[in-house]
Amino acid sequence: MAAVEIQQLTKTFGKLRALNGVDLTIQPGEMVALIGASGSGKSTLIRHVAGLLRSDAGERGGQVRVLGRTMQSGGHLSPEARRLRAEIGVVFQQFNLVHRLPLLINVVTGVLGRIPTWRGCLGLFTREEKLLAMRALKRVGMDDFATQRAGNLSGGQQQRGAIARCLVQQARIVLADEPIASLDPASARKVMQMLADINRQDGITVVVSLHQVDYAIRFCNRAIAMRDGEIVYDGATDRLTPDFLKDLYGTSREELILTGAFGNRNAPDEEASDGETPDEETEETVTSVPAAPAVVEDVRDVRRAAKAS
Ligand SMILES: Nc1ncnc2c1ncn2[C@@H]1O[C@H](COP(=O)(O)OP(=O)(O)OP(=O)(O)O)[C@@H](O)[C@H]1O
Ligand SMILES: [Mg+2]
Repeated sequence: MAAVEIQQLTKTFGKLRALNGVDLTIQPGEMVALIGASGSGKSTLIRHVAGLLRSDAGERGGQVRVLGRTMQSGGHLSPEARRLRAEIGVVFQQFNLVHRLPLLINVVTGVLGRIPTWRGCLGLFTREEKLLAMRALKRVGMDDFATQRAGNLSGGQQQRGAIARCLVQQARIVLADEPIASLDPASARKVMQMLADINRQDGITVVVSLHQVDYAIRFCNRAIAMRDGEIVYDGATDRLTPDFLKDLYGTSREELILTGAFGNRNAPDEEASDGETPDEETEETVTSVPAAPAVVEDVRDVRRAAKAS
């Protein structure tokens, strides 16, 4: 059973064909980069897989299946879409955390798909759920920031929070739409490393759209390149040639970011996993505007319990 199976997906905005008969299959456990110039259709494709956008109506719209079940077909979301969305974690370029809430509360909302709606609406999370969130924060190296308002964290820290939320959600697929576009290189490497970790250690399927092609080459085995709503390359990242990439980006070549951040693509791996060297990231000192005291106390209590366990 494929993690994602897309057949003839077509999406038209007004006169613009944003997706044009896209066929694509992604197997469970893959980590796939989605590349292509601005406007090529990467976000539109990701949003269709997440069930956030519907394709064109009728047969020509095509269909999206996720984990063997229909997410949408012919412009209609399937009755299973809501349940399927619970299996999909999303990480966006614009960090999608609620800024005024502490990081831990943002992360614990990952359980929303599994708990009764009334409890989620009231923000009544159990101690076990908060402990789960705390463990996820620890996993991404953010447990010390649990009580901080999300809005006071750096972009990289927020993205790590968003990944922790996917872990709490127990997502089987993570769709990350340009998760590193607004980050400095050190934070970008850390976030990509975390996506790679949850892919390898937890077997989570990861689809990540990237402008930085060298990150795609470094962290993903497979790349899907899009141009004008169509897939123009689907294969190993180490077979992407500079000439192909220049051609792919065409007149938008200035968007092709080959920073040389990783030097030789055959170099050993330690560079990508050395996120903990002290000068790697300036962990912002957070001048915190505290959240509501009761919430902070509650979060502190959970943090103590997590440390003790
Ligand atoms: N809601 C919308 N209404 C109208 N046109 C849209 C809408 N969303 C996307 N488009 C258009 O569809 C095309 C594909 O857009 P999309 O955002 O998927 O590209 P992208 O590859 O993600 O680009 P970027 O790298 O800039 O994020 C673009 O021409 C865009 O202008
Ligand atoms: Mg986009």
